[in-house]
Amino acid sequence: MTTTLITGGTVVSATGRAAADVLIDGERIAAVLEPGSHLLGTDLAASVDTVIDAAGKYVIPGGIDAHTHMQLPFGGTSASDTFETGTRAAAWGGTTTIIDFAVQTYGQKVLDGLAKWHELAAGNCAIDYGFHQIIGGIDDDSLAVMPRLIDEGITSFKLFMAYPGVFYSDDAQILRAMQVSRDTGLLTMMHAENGPAIDVLAAQLVEQGKTDPFYHGVARAWQMEEEATHRAIMLANLTGAPLYIVHVSAKQAVEQLAWARDKGQNVFGETCPQYLYLSLEEQLGARSDEWGAFEGAKWVCSTPLRSREEGHQDHMWQALRTNDLQMVSTDHCPFCMKDQKELGLGDFRKIPNGIGSVEHRMDLMYQGVATGKITLERWVELTSTTPARMFGLYGRKGVIQPGADGDVVIYDPNGHTSIGVDKTHHMNMDHSAWEGYEIDGHVDTVLSRGKVIVDGGQYLGTKGDGRYVKRGLSQYLV
Ligand code: URP
Ligand code: ZN
Ligand code: ZN
Repeated sequence: MTTTLITGGTVVSATGRAAADVLIDGERIAAVLEPGSHLLGTDLAASVDTVIDAAGKYVIPGGIDAHTHMQLPFGGTSASDTFETGTRAAAWGGTTTIIDFAVQTYGQKVLDGLAKWHELAAGNCAIDYGFHQIIGGIDDDSLAVMPRLIDEGITSFKLFMAYPGVFYSDDAQILRAMQVSRDTGLLTMMHAENGPAIDVLAAQLVEQGKTDPFYHGVARAWQMEEEATHRAIMLANLTGAPLYIVHVSAKQAVEQLAWARDKGQNVFGETCPQYLYLSLEEQLGARSDEWGAFEGAKWVCSTPLRSREEGHQDHMWQALRTNDLQMVSTDHCPFCMKDQKELGLGDFRKIPNGIGSVEHRMDLMYQGVATGKITLERWVELTSTTPARMFGLYGRKGVIQPGADGDVVIYDPNGHTSIGVDKTHHMNMDHSAWEGYEIDGHVDTVLSRGKVIVDGGQYLGTKGDGRYVKRGLSQYLV
């Protein structure tokens, strides 16, 4: 077993920061010590296998991205990152755990869908991974099998109020699933958009010749998100199910969450970097020689980008400060423009939905620290500690403390990161949704269960380093 001492850095947690050394023994953190400590009279730095100098840098728990879609089948194609490429890109960006969504679609058995996801991931991941379970259309079979997911280490499932004919569940199905959620403690995760109404609006736009990517966001109006969020909250209220709304982008949806939380309901929400930084106006203005107005397809995702004029982005940052939103995940679902997004040339409804960000979440959120939007501690809380608590990993992940996995990132606040396909880009995509973004910080070193997997601009890990992590119930259940 190797021993590693990280010296001279500032250890940051969700609740504070302190100068401290971190001792890792094998795969686990053994001690967090006063800087320069001796242990039983021994000079630690002289007795460990490796010393990492973190002077002037932050030492934080590895990022946990609780919403990714490696290889997700969507719109006649599949997300372009495999578990191998996507988790390696995540590691480059300081994320040491992902929770991906195993998929069950109509007509398929839940446990068969799960087995397929294990097959795709096993032996291929650079970092540790867990699963949520997508259930595409609740039926008697899925209801019966849901409690068994807990034994598999899957303690949350996602339903869709959107995508009729693909993943959609109607209110009756949702109600029945939420009753199981209440009885078992499985956390209900909801894609909250009114899919049937959106499909009517989208068809009408296409009939009017409005086929460019921008109209994706017009069809998926904020009213569609607010309404579905409210409906999900009320169904959860009725059943007593714990509820987590994924990829929140409309300020009105946040208001619904805040309203329910203020009444004491156990509901939570995540947003994603794209809803903090990017807007519908920029998507409308995007043009390139290669793609013309279809350039906007790079940012087609659901929920969609929202209007900056209407203030959604500012509201998301505010909600992260006030805890009306509790987490930031990426909803990483990358598609190349060539052969994938271009399936929607001439009809925005056929553009595969999704943006790739798994590599950039820690940096993009750190930029919120650099620009004074969130504190350093809140950065750690939003990107690591709360995801660990929310999804039953805390203690092992999401914190630097004795006994926790040695998932540690050394982040340089004086470093710099330029995002772009020709600069720092390890995701399997032919473009970056974040091209040209500049970050006032840099992921220097990444350790996954005690092993240095990124350091000095080099990837030092191996395919298969990452292990499947069984999760416990959410630590926010009441
Ligand atoms: O656009 C998105 N979000 N694609 C992935 C599927 C989903 O709804 O999360
Ligand atoms: Zn979704
Ligand atoms: Zn998603």
